[in-house]
Amino acid sequence: MAEIRALLIGIVVFCCWAAMADEYAIYKDPEKPINHRIKDLLNRMTLEEKIGQMVQIDQSRASAEVMKNYYIGSILSGPGHVPAEKASPEMWVDMVNDFQKGSLSSRLGIPMIYGIDALHGHNNVYNATLFPHNIGLGATRDPELVKKVGAATALEVRATGIPYTFAPCIAVCRDPRWGRCYESYSEDPKVVQAMTEMIPGLQGDLPANYRKGVPYVAGKQNVAACAKHFVGDGGTTKGIDENNTVISRHELLSIHMPAYYTSIIKGVSTIMVSYSSWNSIKMHANRDLVTGFLKDKMRFRGFVISDWEGLDRITSPPHKNYSHSVEEGVNAGIDMIMVPLEYKEFINDLTFLVKNNSIPMSRIDDAVKRILRVKFMMGLFENPLADYSMTKYLGSQEHRELAREAVRKSLVLLKNGESANKPLIPLPKKESKILVAGSHADNIGYQCGGWTMGWQGKSGNITQGTTILEAIRNTVDPKTVVTYRKNPDAEYLKSNKFSYAIVVVGEPPYAEWLGDNLNLTLPDPAPTVITNVCASVKCVVVLITGRPVVIQPYVDQIDALVAAWLPGTEGQGVADVLFGDYGFSGKLPRTWFKTVDQLPMNVGDKNYDPLYPFGYGIATQPTKAK
Ligand code: BGC
Ligand code: BGC
Repeated sequence: MAEIRALLIGIVVFCCWAAMADEYAIYKDPEKPINHRIKDLLNRMTLEEKIGQMVQIDQSRASAEVMKNYYIGSILSGPGHVPAEKASPEMWVDMVNDFQKGSLSSRLGIPMIYGIDALHGHNNVYNATLFPHNIGLGATRDPELVKKVGAATALEVRATGIPYTFAPCIAVCRDPRWGRCYESYSEDPKVVQAMTEMIPGLQGDLPANYRKGVPYVAGKQNVAACAKHFVGDGGTTKGIDENNTVISRHELLSIHMPAYYTSIIKGVSTIMVSYSSWNSIKMHANRDLVTGFLKDKMRFRGFVISDWEGLDRITSPPHKNYSHSVEEGVNAGIDMIMVPLEYKEFINDLTFLVKNNSIPMSRIDDAVKRILRVKFMMGLFENPLADYSMTKYLGSQEHRELAREAVRKSLVLLKNGESANKPLIPLPKKESKILVAGSHADNIGYQCGGWTMGWQGKSGNITQGTTILEAIRNTVDPKTVVTYRKNPDAEYLKSNKFSYAIVVVGEPPYAEWLGDNLNLTLPDPAPTVITNVCASVKCVVVLITGRPVVIQPYVDQIDALVAAWLPGTEGQGVADVLFGDYGFSGKLPRTWFKTVDQLPMNVGDKNYDPLYPFGYGIATQPTKAK
C-alpha cells in the first residue's frame, strides 16, 4: 500500500515537473540573452514553422486562423488596406490584436510583426498627421527636425497597434522623371545620409557602445524602421521605375550605398530590396550585394525583406517561373518575403526547394534567426498585444504643430520680385481684395500627394488638415477679402481690382511607376492659370509638386515663385511663411533643370547648367509684429 502511494506521489511530482518544464522555456525568458533565446527557439521549430516566419502576407489575406495554421511571421497593410473606411485607431488596434491572437495560439506562440508604409506620417490612417514627403524634408536641411518627425510618426503608428514601418526611403533620386523622386530626400548622397536621422527618430536612440549592425528599437513608443530600396533604386535609366541602374561599382558605392552604411550604424532593424536591377541583375536575385555586401561586409544583423511581389518580378513577365524565383531570391539572402497574396504557393515552393536541397537549411536558419532577433530585441514577445493607451497620439495638436514647422522649413523661395530691393514676399496681410487661384489651393489630397489614404493618393478633402486656401484666410487681416477661383478667365481678372494673387498649381497625386513622366510639364490648365493671372495681377506662384517641373517658360511672368513640394496636411505652414510670420530658409534638395533634355543633371556634373542650382533658395527675414 505504502509503495503504491509512494509511486502515485512520484507520478504526480513527475507530472508537475514535466508541466513546469513545458511552461519554462529559455526563449520565453526575458532575462536570458537574446542569442540564447533565438537558439532555444530555433531548436524547437519545425521546417514548417521556420518557413512560416519568413512569410509576410497582406492584411486582405490575413485572419487569426491563417496566422495560426500557417505560422505566418508577419502581416502588412498594403496601401489603402484598412480595417474600415475612416477607421478609428481603436479599430486598428482591435484588428491587429485579433491577428496577433491567432499567432500567439500557435504551437510555439511566436508573435507576428505587423508592418505598414508610414512614409510621410501614418498615411493610410484617417486623421493622422501627414508631414511633407521626403523631398520637402530634404529641403529643410534639418536632420534634428527630421528625427522629431520620425519620433512623432512612431507614436502615431503605435497608436494604431502597429510596431513596424517600411520607412525611410533612402533612395538617391538622380533623375526627376522617376515617379518616386519625392520619396527621396535629395540627389546628393550626403543630404540623404544626414536625413537617416529619421531612423533614431522612429526607433529611438542607440544606447552607448551598442554593437554596430545590430537592430534596435527602444521600446513601446518606437517602431522598427526599414531602409529601402536596396540599392540603386534612384539611379535607373531615364528614371524609369523598377528599371535598370547602369553605373560602375564605384558609382554605386559612392552615390547609392553611403546612406545604407549610416542606417546600419544607426541600428536600422530591416532593409527592403529594390525591384530595380544593377547592370541588368535584379537586386532581388543579387547574392553578391545582398549577402556578400550588406550582410557580410557591412555586417547588417537585422532582416532583409523583399518588396511587394518582388520575387515574382525577378522574371519578366512576373511570376513566369515562380519556384525558380523563390530559389534565387532566398538564396540571394532575402529573409522575409512580402509575398503578399499567394502565400500557399510560396510556402509549397519554398518547402520543396529546401527538401530537395536547392536551398540549404543554413540559409533558412539565417533568415529565421534574423527575424527572431528583431522580434526579441523590440520586446514583441513580452508585449505582443497593443492597448488603447496610445490612441491619443494620432493626429495630436503637438504633431500637427511639428508638421507645420516642417512645412515652413521645407519651402524654397526661387524668385522674389524683380530684384532684391523690390521683394513681393512677405505679402501684406491687409489689403482690400486678394485672389487665390489654381487647382491645388483648396485640396488636402493634392497637397499630400501619393501614398495618402491609399496608394496613388486622391483628390479632395480626404482627411483632416488645413488647405492652403484656409491657411491664407486664417492669416490675412479679417478685413481683407479673399476670393478663390480655380481657373479665373481674363474678363474676371480685369473686372476685379486685386492687390495681388496667389496661384497654387502642381502635379496631381501619383505613386511608383504611375508617376514616371518624361516631359515633366505642369498639367493643364496650370500653365494658362499662371499666364492669365500673372499677366494682370502681381502674382506669387506656389508649386505643389513631387519634383522640379518645367517652369522656365513662365518665370519671367511670375513675380514670386515658391517650391512647396508635397507639404502634407498642415497647409498653415505655407501661409506662415508667405505672409512673413516666419522667414524662408529651405534650400533646393535637387537641381532645377531648364529643359528635360538636360536630364539627368545633378550637382557636380560636367555640363551643369541649371535654371536654379542645387542648394539654391532665397532666405527672407520674418516681419516684426506690427
Ligand atoms: C513599394 C514599397 C512598399 C511596398 C508595400 C511596394 O510597391 O515599392 O516601397 O513598401 O509596396 O506597400
Ligand atoms: C504594389 C502594387 C500593388 C499596390 C496595391 C503597391 O505597393 O507595388 O503592385 O498593386 O501596392 O496594393
